[in-house]
Amino acid sequence: MSEFIRVEVLAGYHDRKNFECPTGGLGDYLRERASQDVRHRAAAVFVAVNPAAPERVLGYYTLSSLSLKLTDIPAQHQRKLARYPDVGVTLLGRLAVDVSCRGQHLGEFLLFDALYRVIATSSTIATVALVVDTLVDSKDFYIRYGFTHLRDQRYWLPLDSARDLMQNQPPSILTHEERPS
Ligand SMILES: CC(C)(COP(=O)(O)OP(=O)(O)OC[C@H]1O[C@@H](n2cnc3c(N)ncnc32)[C@H](O)[C@@H]1OP(=O)(O)O)[C@@H](O)C(=O)NCCC(=O)NCCS
Repeated sequence: MSEFIRVEVLAGYHDRKNFECPTGGLGDYLRERASQDVRHRAAAVFVAVNPAAPERVLGYYTLSSLSLKLTDIPAQHQRKLARYPDVGVTLLGRLAVDVSCRGQHLGEFLLFDALYRVIATSSTIATVALVVDTLVDSKDFYIRYGFTHLRDQRYWLPLDSARDLMQNQPPSILTHEERPS
């Protein structure tokens, strides 16, 4: 895998059919439903590519809006929020890395890219946190980046914690744009 990765909005030229991730139907989702979800504005889909071969999808994630009940938020966080019954958050609905690219910090890179986008747009569309419904095997992946439990398989990272994470723990691989000249 190239040391430099670019994240793009899912487009027609991306080859979905060769993306391999049997876990949790995440490969099937990219092949069969991702484009529809984009068309119906159910989710925004972002793919990681090597700029030298941008049609090959190495990994992807999805973002969409979600509303949580204020009462579902841990008490110590409720105090910092407006007293409305619902809290606007961003759902990281899916995140997957092609089986051939695992263990090379691409998952981490995609997670940081998602956090970066959410932080960057939060002054335009307010959101309190990134929320993820983890698969059993992936829970610890999110915990290691500071996500904490909400309920069931659902974890969250408040935006203030996300900002701290981005400052204190930069991702191990660089974006194409960050490539030194
Ligand atoms: C979970 C997943 C996205 C991780 O991607 P990856 O590129 O293989 O992981 P990375 O190389 O970025 O891992 C970064 C760090 O997290 C650790 N890590 C990776 N997967 C982990 C897991 N499931 N549990 C705990 N730690 C994990 C790595 O060991 C690495 O630690 P290090 O910095 O000490 O070396 C990938 O395994 C995947 O696509 N799994 C199937 C789908 C899935 O479970 N998605 C998440 C739920 S939507």
